[in-house]
Amino acid sequence: ERKLSPFESIGEDTLHRLVDTFYGLVAQHPDLAPIFPNQFTEIARKQKQFLTQYLGGPALYTEEHGHPMMRARHLPFPVTPIRARAWLSCMTQAMDTIGLQGPIRDEFYSRLHLTAQHMINTPDGAI
Ligand code: HEM
Repeated sequence: ERKLSPFESIGEDTLHRLVDTFYGLVAQHPDLAPIFPNQFTEIARKQKQFLTQYLGGPALYTEEHGHPMMRARHLPFPVTPIRARAWLSCMTQAMDTIGLQGPIRDEFYSRLHLTAQHMINTPDGAI
């Protein structure tokens, strides 16, 4: 028997609810809102594609946008340690809100934590 991917364990509906809830929080966060566009439709769509493949589901992001190169795609935006913490706190809150719990949440969150550190490209206080 094949082991389920994290994407299959979480499920598409739950992942989409997570992303929509997450950007609802980002939109209201004073440290994050200023670097995001006013409209979250497109970024939420891309993030659903990205996280689907990040969790071992179909490569939806790559099919439409090419190699993820996430760090490079973030370089135009000043991602500071403060913003990385804010991003992760919105994610924690979104996971709490939709009720994503257990080992699958812990694994997913620890990967996001590592990826978020990798996105930091600007020191605090530089902007
Ligand atoms: C795009 C901020 C971490 C995935 C973006 C954008 C911003 C941003 C400002 C561009 C929005 C636009 O289109 O104008 C941040 C900040 C982070 C962070 C402050 C804190 C560490 C992450 C992490 C992931 C991620 C950890 C994935 C696990 C994405 C994706 C896009 C994106 C998929 C869309 C890329 C595209 O345009 O194709 N992010 N991000 N981000 N971010 Fe992040």
